[in-house]
This record gives sequence, structure tokens and C-alpha cells, in this order.
Amino acid sequence: MPHNFFVLSGEHLELAQDEVVSISKIYDQYTEHESESRLVITKSTVPFEKIAGRAAFVRIAGNISGTFDDISEIELHVPRPDAFACRTINLSSKKIDGVTLEREVGPILKKSWGARVSLSSPSLTIYLILTDTKRYVGYSDMILEPKRPEKIFKYPHELEWKLARCMVNLSGLREGKTLCDPFCGTGTILLEAESIGIRSIGIDFDEKMCYISEKNLSQNGYESRVINSTFDYIQKIKDDVDAVVTDVPYGSASRSSVAPKKLIQDFISILPKKMKLVMVYKKGIDLDYLDKAKKYEVYRHKSLTRVIAVR
Ligand SMILES: C[S@@+](CC[C@H](N)C(=O)[O-])C[C@H]1O[C@@H](n2cnc3c(N)ncnc32)[C@H](O)[C@@H]1O
Repeated sequence: MPHNFFVLSGEHLELAQDEVVSISKIYDQYTEHESESRLVITKSTVPFEKIAGRAAFVRIAGNISGTFDDISEIELHVPRPDAFACRTINLSSKKIDGVTLEREVGPILKKSWGARVSLSSPSLTIYLILTDTKRYVGYSDMILEPKRPEKIFKYPHELEWKLARCMVNLSGLREGKTLCDPFCGTGTILLEAESIGIRSIGIDFDEKMCYISEKNLSQNGYESRVINSTFDYIQKIKDDVDAVVTDVPYGSASRSSVAPKKLIQDFISILPKKMKLVMVYKKGIDLDYLDKAKKYEVYRHKSLTRVIAVR
């Protein structure tokens, strides 16, 4: 079974590691994985492109060919590329001269393949990935340039797209399934969901927010529905919804007159118990009914740390 590698950007490490594993498990529930600092290695039937194309925090991804102690042990079982480049990714705590390593490995591969070296436009990149415990050799022909949905209307309290994308991925939904965001605001979660093929339905009690969401969706030719109503409208559509992914009001920033804790409590109480829920809220609200959820803290600035809960 192929081993894939994913080098993370370094933001929100635990969240980013879990995102990769969660995506892989959507397509192969038997995915095995190991993580070390910014590196996640998965063993699954899922092509790395599928995972990297969805993930918010993956910077480089590819196949693992094997491990090595000495460069003489490096073997690559891949068809000869037209042109290749060799890159070192040092994730270890030691200072390593990557350029020298690349200059040593490059000629060995060049000789065995008879291929050109091209640093500017390689058809295959060989990665020498060094951690404190292992040295991996990996390869990839994928350039990560995710197509981003456009957002014509922004708003000060909107969710960062990477967090929204990551939350969608943690919901475990595959393409064609339906997500609901009952506090959709400007539609960030809806946009991220639809950009990876997940249908979405937004609800917001503020007419202006619904207008903004609709405009942001139509700008991208997306078809997600937006309903101008309070969150309890979800009860009417719950049979069409596979997961709830949402960013609940933070209190003073919201137009809601109900205190955030009460609002969240009321909201969770109407959700079917088995409904998958990925919810972000402001740290400091004590939600004992989410005791069993996995939680991640995400620092934004000195007066806002968010908690992402996955139930
Ligand atoms: C934190 S904002 C969501 C921001 C959104 N994630 C974005 O990126 O734009 C919360 C939203 O909940 C809406 N809201 C507040 N109380 C509500 C209620 N009772 N029912 C439905 N929507 C509500 C507000 O109008 C606001 O747009």
C-alpha cells in the first residue's frame, strides 16, 4: 500500500495533522498514519493529490519511496522523468546543509535515470525529508496551487478561509454530501465546502448577511442555498443534511440578543444526537455538553482565541 507524505505549513499543527488524516479516512477508513512535527505520513489507498487538493494546511505532498541512512541507499522506483530537481526539507532540530546533500544525491539519480536536472521546471521533484528520527526520500510531480473561491463581500468577523476549509474537512464529508452552516454570515464555510464538491445550505437571521453570502456564492457560480431564518430552521431540513459545520456568534460582535452560551446550548439541543458537528466558538464559554468532543484552540489575537470542537 502506498505511503504518502504531507509537509504542513506549521500553523495550528495538531489541527493540520488531524485534517490530513481525516481527509484520508474519508476515502479509506483503514488509513494508518504517523506524524512528526510538520510531517504526516499516511499509509492508505488514497492518492496524495486527493488529500493535498482538499487540505488547508499542506504545503508540499507526494509519495514516499523509502527511508535512507546513507545516500548510497537511495533507490527510486519511478519511471524516468524528463527532468528532475532534488530538494531537501529539513524538519529536524539540527542544522543541515541541504544544498550539499542535493548536490550529492542529484548526480546519483541523474546517472541511474539518464535524465536532465532542471531546477526551474522539473517534471518530477525528489524530496529528501529529514526529521529527528528518520530520513525519507519522496517524490512528487504536483505543484500545489489550489483554486480559491472568490469573495467579493468581506466582513470584519468572517472566518479565515483555511480554518473554514479545515473544519469542512474535519466533518468527514465526501463530494456530493450536504453540509449546513446555520450561522453562515458571509458564507465562508459554504464557499469552502462547495469549492471541494460538497453541497451546502446556509442559514442566517440577518437579511444583509444572507445577501452577502448569496453574492459571494453566485460570484463563483456556486449553487449552495441560503435561507434567511433563525438557526432552528435546520430542524425542517435535517434529513437533507449530513453534517453541521458552523461558526457561532461570539457575543458583542454578533447582532444576536441572546448570550452566546445560551444560544449555543439551544442550538445544540435541537440537533439530532448523531449529527456530525464541527463548531467554532470563542474560548471562555464553558460548554460541558461538548465534553466528549475533540477540541483545538486557535489563537487569533489577544482578545480572541477560538475553539474548534469536533463531535
Ligand atoms: C460569527 S458570525 C459567522 C461568520 C461567518 N463564519 C463568516 O465567515 O462570515 C455568526 C453569524 O450568526 C448570525 N446569527 C446570530 N444569531 C443567529 C440566530 N439566532 N439564527 C441564525 N443566525 C444567527 C449572525 O447574523 C452572524 O452572521
